[in-house]
Amino acid sequence: MSSRCEVRVDGHLDERWAAVLDGFDLRHDADGTTTLTGLVVDQAHLHGLLARLRDLSVPLLSMQAAPAPEPPAQLKQPLASLTWPRPTDRLVLRPATSDDAEGTWRYRRLETVSRWLTEVPASLEAYRLTFEQPDRLATTIVATLDGRIVADLMLRVEDAWAQTEVAHVAHRTQAEIAWVLDPDVTGQGYATEAARELLTICFDDLGLRRVTATCFADNVPSWRLMERIGMRRESHAVQDALHRTGRWMDTFIYAALPRDWSPRSDHPEV
Ligand SMILES: CC(C)(COP(=O)(O)OP(=O)(O)OC[C@H]1O[C@@H](n2cnc3c(N)ncnc32)[C@H](O)[C@@H]1OP(=O)(O)O)[C@@H](O)C(=O)NCCC(=O)NCCS
Repeated sequence: MSSRCEVRVDGHLDERWAAVLDGFDLRHDADGTTTLTGLVVDQAHLHGLLARLRDLSVPLLSMQAAPAPEPPAQLKQPLASLTWPRPTDRLVLRPATSDDAEGTWRYRRLETVSRWLTEVPASLEAYRLTFEQPDRLATTIVATLDGRIVADLMLRVEDAWAQTEVAHVAHRTQAEIAWVLDPDVTGQGYATEAARELLTICFDDLGLRRVTATCFADNVPSWRLMERIGMRRESHAVQDALHRTGRWMDTFIYAALPRDWSPRSDHPEV
């Protein structure tokens, strides 16, 4: 079974040895040692590697499983790494703050909106408690129109599924996006405009490789929006989600890769 391995040797190995050592990354450490990090396929591979080091008369100091590499800084705290506010044609997007609880509660508390949302807090105070959670704020963007909040959006960077040996490569490479629009301003393309900006952030700014969005199949405005911004329906799960009305509902998962998407693309099936 392959795994990432870290080998420390004495002296500073020349970069050209990387080719001989199966393309392992070479890092020269301040204490005069070199750390080699790479994927070891199996025991035979490891023995071959160690034999080559011995043949090169390189003193082996230690060998251990390599820690998963840190994701780039902009993927650890994606929203904090970007420049705000971001204007679109008609809206201004910015990360949410705890002061936005009331502005978003104004429309989220409405039954026509909350019927599609995961939870319906009983009061503004209960809503504020969840809205102000650091994880929630770190993944929430609000969109304002003439200074008033008209939408809140989710952008959550996550790991893609991967086999264990390569899980570090899939770490924080995709995002899930979602939206909630004030019903006062539906039917005018504002959610489309904001969602397109989310895709710009995901693909152009954060360099993610895939973006997904999920909704109840009965939530027609939401999946129509997904199609309008160029996302593809990839999954139709049958009666997999229990709605608070007691009905088991179907869900859709949509996704886009950078190649599916262009900010100027016209998706005429609106
Ligand atoms: C899902 C939701 C954001 C969609 O709102 P929406 O108003 O339909 O979406 P938009 O603001 O992009 O407007 C699109 C509509 O405006 C029309 N439109 C007008 N001008 C437009 C423009 N410049 N660009 C795009 N569409 C435009 C479109 O034709 C479309 O109307 P249609 O669906 O009748 O064809 C909204 O219904 C909502 O917040 N629902 C409650 C919360 C929710 O369900 N969230 C998602 C959970 S998964």
